[in-house]
This record gives sequence, structure tokens and C-alpha cells, in this order.
Amino acid sequence: MDKNINMSARGGSTYGGKKIIIANWKMNPSSLKETKKIFDTIRKAASRLKNVETVICPPFVYLNSLNPRTTLGLSKGSPWIGAQDLFWQESGSYTGEISAKMLKNLGVQYVIIGHSERREYLKETNEMINKKIKTALKNNLKVIFCIGEKKRDSKGKYLSFIEEEILKGLKGIQKKLLNNLIIAYEPIWAIGKKTKQSDTPKDVFQMSMYIRKIAGKIPILYGGSVSPENAENFLCDTGIHGLLVGHKSLIPKDFNKILKIADKSR
Ligand code: PGA
Repeated sequence: MDKNINMSARGGSTYGGKKIIIANWKMNPSSLKETKKIFDTIRKAASRLKNVETVICPPFVYLNSLNPRTTLGLSKGSPWIGAQDLFWQESGSYTGEISAKMLKNLGVQYVIIGHSERREYLKETNEMINKKIKTALKNNLKVIFCIGEKKRDSKGKYLSFIEEEILKGLKGIQKKLLNNLIIAYEPIWAIGKKTKQSDTPKDVFQMSMYIRKIAGKIPILYGGSVSPENAENFLCDTGIHGLLVGHKSLIPKDFNKILKIADKSR
């Protein structure tokens, strides 16, 4: 265990008590036209909300076209833009990769790192994720660091799995940089359209306490089948700071409902 971590994260949230709601669009939508349509509907709703930090994470190819800083006047509640990944090297011969500086120079604010789908399909390890987090933080990007277990076992082995993900992911990171880090707890068994259930608010509450014991006062999000139906329970009863939303974030009607719920939940 890296003892520095717990001590290092005392700074707490820099979000002024706002709920943080992140849209992870994954590899969707397939056209820029559709992307802009969804974004615009969400942007209008988000701009009216005072108590929510909305972040939209589209595929790389759409980042520039959606960035409100370059395409629109930035009103108070306008969504921020986030990437879904980056590479740990600053530049060079790494075909297909995107650097932290490229994102920063586009005006991108956030980046998701360590999503379970990348851990599974692309075999991303805790060590690779640690390098990505370090590069992102060094370049002043806000990191949404994803963790989560594949399954729950009755002996509680999943807890050590989570601990290992946190400690290896954050190994050697300077204390002052942790102010720009958010942990997204996403149990893998609860992710996606096909899954039968989300986690329960009670378990998410316990997990948030557990994560806090290891990581200190880093803001924690829950992700995994979040919907307008369950958003309120997660936001009010679990001690977490916000939500990471997958498939429902591509349906503006549903995502905007989640934003409104977050705006009211204090
Ligand atoms: P989901 O995805 O909301 O579709 O379960 C969440 C995520 O993978 O970030």
C-alpha cells in the first residue's frame, strides 16, 4: 500500500459542492451530425443548471467540433468536454495514439482513464493506467479514474481487488496533483444495456466509504446502468459526488432528466 495516497488527498473536491455528471458515449454515435444533435440538446439543458458540472466524453474524432470553448460562448453551466483515453507518452512514434498535450491544446478538460472496457478488450494493466494518469495530471487534465470489480464474492476478495486497482493506479503520484482526480466506481457486472441490474445505493455507500479509506477525500462517482429511475437514490443516499453515465447519456431526454435530478439533489 502506498501510504502517501491517503494523506495526500486532503484537498477534497474542487467542484464547489456541485454534482459531477459525466456522459461516456463510448464508440457512439456514428456521424458528426447525430453527435451534434445529441450534444446540442444536452448543452441547452445543462446550461440552465447551477448545481451540476456536466462533462461530455465523445469519441476523439468529435472533440474539436463539440468543444464549447471554440464553437460557442461558454455560459456558466455549459458542459465540459472530456476524452475517453490518452497515451502516456508526450509525443513520438506511437501510431494511432493521442497525447495529453493534444487534448489540452484543444481545450479538453477531462479524460477518462482505466475504463473496464479498455482493461478487458485492450488488456490495459494497472501499470499502464498509472502512467496515463501521471501524464494526464502533469498536463493539467482532470482525470476520471475508473475502478470496479468483475464480480462480488462472499469472502470479500473483490475489496482487495479494488484496493489494488487504486494503489497501483495512483502509485507515486504527487500529492498536490490529486486535486484533479476523480474516482469512478463502476462494478463491471452492473455496466451496460444488457446487464440486469445496477448496484444498490446501500452497497455504493459502503464502497464509497471503503474507497475513501484508501484514497482520501477524492470525489467519487458511481457508474453502471444509471438511469433517470435510479439516479436520485444514488445521488442522495450514497455519499458520492456524481455519476458516470453510459448508454443513457446518448438519449438526451433521459440524460437531461438525470442532470435535473442532480441539480436538485443536495
Ligand atoms: P452504462 O455504462 O451506464 O451503460 O452501464 C457506464 C460506463 O461504462 O461508463
